Amino acid sequence: MRRLLVTGGAGFIGANFVHYWLRNHPDDRVVVLDVLTYAGRRASLASVERHSNFRFVRGDIRDQALVEALLKEERADTLVHFAAESHVDRSILGPDAFIETNVIGTHSLLKAARNIWLKENASSAFERHRFHQVSTDEVYGTLGPDEPPFCETTPYAPSSPYAATKAAADHLVRSYHRTYGLQTTTSNCSNNYGPYQFPEKLIPLMLINALQGRPLPVYGDGQQVRDWLYVEDHCRGIELVLEKGHVGETYNLGGRSEKTNLDVVQILCRHLDELMPDAAYAPHISLLSFVRDRPGHDRRYAIDTSKAKAELGYQPQEDFESGLRKTLAWYLGNELWWRALLDAHYQDWIEAHYGRRARNGTFQPYSSLT
Ligand code: NAD
Ligand code: TYD
Repeated sequence: MRRLLVTGGAGFIGANFVHYWLRNHPDDRVVVLDVLTYAGRRASLASVERHSNFRFVRGDIRDQALVEALLKEERADTLVHFAAESHVDRSILGPDAFIETNVIGTHSLLKAARNIWLKENASSAFERHRFHQVSTDEVYGTLGPDEPPFCETTPYAPSSPYAATKAAADHLVRSYHRTYGLQTTTSNCSNNYGPYQFPEKLIPLMLINALQGRPLPVYGDGQQVRDWLYVEDHCRGIELVLEKGHVGETYNLGGRSEKTNLDVVQILCRHLDELMPDAAYAPHISLLSFVRDRPGHDRRYAIDTSKAKAELGYQPQEDFESGLRKTLAWYLGNELWWRALLDAHYQDWIEAHYGRRARNGTFQPYSSLT
């Protein structure tokens, strides 16, 4: 039986992980620590709030005393660290919050874990502890079209402030293993999609814009490539790392599903047309607009998952089509969840980020390019 402290458990992947974990390990204790930034939603945890083994604590990962108290009082032996500022575009507009949470926050968690799990008179229950760092493939930088996918030994070369802060955090985690013997693992994963994703990332943004007849803003030429993984397959991968992964090791997780951004938007529009042939905005692809590119935009990410496959038996269960169908069905069935996010704060972000692109005359309707 494990006792987990899950940071960032009210965010997109964290919430999916909590649901996944309590479904598959109902006897384990799961305590979520989340400060509830704009990206954290208590509503995403509604269905587990009454679970007897679940507890939600609102707090900041930089609060070392709070984390130490939680680890002790909950006798937590496993810390799964999702909490982060996670959006590349926001990191370009304001990197400071990324340094605070992703670097200082991760270091604060490491110090707390070391103090509680490794101190001389630590409880024997902590002998087999685990600090799992949830990281991203973006730490590896960008790939050319014919380069081999990222593997665990690819040198770090982050492009955005987001990726740089995640890289810093990964290095800190490794150093706490090598220097102090903290039992750590790290997973570096490709782009996730699925239920509960905040509509600032590509797939939920395009989906919600399409449902409202708003432009679908593709950056640059839309030929940037990402590897897409259905979020539940990520949760399964983390479970495998916790259960079978070797301490001190890193595992790359991905969906072996490389797609250009333009492909993603076209597939999404096709699915929407099929589901809603009579929609006012069908065919939805007519909403597509090319906008000014993201500065420092990585051209291609791709993941070599052979280590996770060989050592852990990792194998995604969804392909892009099936995962996208599940995602669309979830958003169509949970309109209350996403409509609640479209508040003044969200509109401010949309205006600050996309408004300028449009006013500079860089919105180009799809029809003018085809
Ligand atoms: P998210 O932005 O949806 O959620 C982040 C959560 O962390 C939110 O609930 C937020 O309230 C919480 N949080 C932020 N700062 C905090 C702080 N100082 N203290 C406590 N809680 C805080 O992010 P996500 O997409 O769910 O990503 C989760 C993790 O997975 C991140 O570490 C991210 O780098 C990593 N990751 C994400 C993806 C992806 O495609 N989304 C891919 C690979 C790795
Ligand atoms: P995003 O979901 O922000 O994830 P990441 O930058 O971490 O990969 O973006 C995925 C891709 O989609 C990325 O290449 C940027 C692109 N993109 C757009 O073209 N338009 C948009 O409005 C957004 C949010 C992203």
